[in-house]
This record gives sequence, structure tokens and C-alpha cells, in this order.
Amino acid sequence: MGGIIHWQGRKIAFRAGETVASALLRAGIPQFGQSGTGLERGVFCGIGQCQNCLVMLAGRPVEACLLQCVDGMNLEPQQWVTQ
Ligand code: FES
Repeated sequence: MGGIIHWQGRKIAFRAGETVASALLRAGIPQFGQSGTGLERGVFCGIGQCQNCLVMLAGRPVEACLLQCVDGMNLEPQQWVTQ
């Protein structure tokens, strides 16, 4: 059974068993955040190794390529703080 996740307040439909990365990409969202140097971040390895796809879920960073969608889930880009 699919459902809806929320990306920056935008409703994104997902299919049963789909990861957050897959649902965002299918919705035309390839950029999940921005690095401290200003580079786009998104799916790179797709297997949980590079952490280029980190998104924020309930205040914690999680790999979008490993995270299975749950109906009603609220996600935001990870904000990098440079000092
Ligand atoms: S794309 Fe590399 S950890 Fe998700």
C-alpha cells in the first residue's frame, strides 16, 4: 500500500515498499540538500555508504536511499552550517 510523504510541505505520493529517495526522484526532485561548499546533494551510491542523500526526519539525519516511506512522514533537507 502506498501513501503520501511530505517534502518541505509538498505532498509526494509513494508506492508500496518505495524508499524516500525513489519517491522524491520519481516526483522530479533530484536535489535533497546542499553541502557546506554549495554543491547539490542527492542520490550517489544508492546503498547507504556515501551519505550524500541525507534528509531530516524528526530532527535527525537519515539516508533517503535506505529509508522506506511511511504514510504521513515529514521530511526536510539537511541544513549544513559552515563556520
Ligand atoms: S545515496 Fe549514498 S547513502 Fe544514500
